[in-house]
Amino acid sequence: MFKNTKIKKFSLLFVLTGAIAGTAIAADYKSIIVHRQGIYDVMAGHMKVLKSILFMGNENISSVNYHAKAILEAAKHHGNAFPKGSDKGKTHALPAIWEKPEEFKQAGQKLGKALQEFISVSEMADKEDLKEMQAAFKKVGEACKGCHKKFREEL
Ligand code: HEC
Repeated sequence: MFKNTKIKKFSLLFVLTGAIAGTAIAADYKSIIVHRQGIYDVMAGHMKVLKSILFMGNENISSVNYHAKAILEAAKHHGNAFPKGSDKGKTHALPAIWEKPEEFKQAGQKLGKALQEFISVSEMADKEDLKEMQAAFKKVGEACKGCHKKFREEL
């Protein structure tokens, strides 16, 4: 089904979820929070670029695949992003992350799957693939929002 066999499904299981177990010392929390927020901002930047191409007529269609892959790459670099105790400080992370770690993990996996599909449909894409890419992009957006709804405070 997927054109892109280079992406190992295995690694996707760890997208965004590497991390709930494990603890860190208090001084680390600030750097952990800033780091994870920075990763999310990077992902949001790519989503913004993709929106301009897929929905606003920007012509850089051949870049869609790059941005899709870059979101996955950023997500993979989350590291130990939600250790216990990192609910304190300047963060919008909700306690549900630590109360329902399985659900949180699944929300991350949902994004991983949606990204895999998006990367696959945007490989070697041209204008004829626009509709398919739009649909795949929407699923990625839904995976972001799905997690935010349950696990992030309203910004
Ligand atoms: C598995 C859950 C989950 C998924 C999936 C997820 N996010 Fe988030 N996101 C969070 C949480 C939790 C925070 C709050 C982090 C904090 O404030 O410490 C957050 C914060 C953010 C922020 C605010 C960062 C800041 O500077 O405060 C942005 C922007 C964002 N996410 C974008 C995205 C985008 C775009 C996607 C999809 C490509 C995405 N997120 C997918 C859980 C998720």
